[in-house]
Amino acid sequence: MTGRTNSVAEMPQGFLNASPQKPVKSLLRALAGEVLALPPVWLMRQAGRYLPEYRALRQRAPSFLDFCFSPELAAEATMQPVRRFGMDAAILFADILVVAHGLGQRVDFREGKGPVLMPIRSAEAACELSLHDFAARVAPVHETVARVAAMLPVQTTLIGFAGAPWTVACYMVEGGTSRDFAAVKRWAFGDAEGFGVLIDRLVEATILYLSGQVTAGAEALQLFDSWAGVLPEAAFRRWVIAPTRRIVAALKETHPRLPLIGFPRGAGLMYRAYFSESGVDALGLDSTVPVEIAHRTLQSIGPVQGNLDPLLLAAGGAAMMENVTAIRRALGEGPFVFNLGHGVVPETPVEHVAALVASLRQPVTAP
Ligand code: CP3
Repeated sequence: MTGRTNSVAEMPQGFLNASPQKPVKSLLRALAGEVLALPPVWLMRQAGRYLPEYRALRQRAPSFLDFCFSPELAAEATMQPVRRFGMDAAILFADILVVAHGLGQRVDFREGKGPVLMPIRSAEAACELSLHDFAARVAPVHETVARVAAMLPVQTTLIGFAGAPWTVACYMVEGGTSRDFAAVKRWAFGDAEGFGVLIDRLVEATILYLSGQVTAGAEALQLFDSWAGVLPEAAFRRWVIAPTRRIVAALKETHPRLPLIGFPRGAGLMYRAYFSESGVDALGLDSTVPVEIAHRTLQSIGPVQGNLDPLLLAAGGAAMMENVTAIRRALGEGPFVFNLGHGVVPETPVEHVAALVASLRQPVTAP
């Protein structure tokens, strides 16, 4: 999978110039390798607690998982940022831990504490995770996708998503968020074969889950590998790149033109290997990736997405705008999607998001 280029003619999606299949949606055009005058924009966690209308809607479900599994409420949450800001993409409202729940693990979201799971720490426990009821358990998410697809403006792209196996495994093994990932690393490093049972199960579940989203109407997919950056090289190749490649290959077999965005947060010097070897069509950059280097070494492989620091969005003003300009100057000459380097934080003022999107609808000012 090496040697891919950003030339539209060589992109494999079939979105060729002058072809009847050329997408009209700006996000799909950028993901197909087109260089646009103005970058399409969406934000990770664009639906969430920083929006007053989200906080009001969230009250209508007893728990966060109930909220994710209520197609009516989840579809409405998906639409909120699209309505308010005119984002170029809607990202399905759900959570990466829906897959753990779908496999039969106990998952709870506690107010102020984040997710709490019954930890899985042996191959025997991983074997008990069952794909048998998986499709039925995640069906409400697919219903959400279908509802959103039916009400989306024509210029807006519907992005489906899943957590990548390594990141979902981090939560499943640690039992929640972790500071050092000691339990999951101990297992992955000390008993690779046993840990591989869990990863294999996640690869299979993720393929089913994402295929279902595409069938229901998702037009692009993002794989969130939020904890990719905690692994040394060999483990990164084995637990981040290899499972991602299996998922991408399986999805491309059934949906050859589907654009896939990979987001291996914190991958640092491994970003390049991830992009050229995993098979993803576009690469999400975290905020620590220097944009000039990304332009030279990553955008030559394919489209990139990112990477404003979420706290710069929360800060707003001149500091935010200077960074936005620097990102656009470096990455706007190649195929590019504007985004943050991680999710919107709850304390973000909505006016800052509106100002950001308004600025992206104007050409970048001369230096
Ligand atoms: O981006 C979007 O708008 C779509 C929805 C979405 C959510 N989670 C909703 C959510 C997406 C794409 C995710 C992905 C997700 N979930 C990731 C990968 C991206 C990342 O942030 O690194 C991860 C690691 C999770 C797991 C997760 N979910 C954690 C650790 C938490 C608790 C922390 C927090 O922010 O509260 C969640 C909860 C969660 N997922 C919320 C939302 C809107 C907050 C729940 C609430 O409404 O109170």
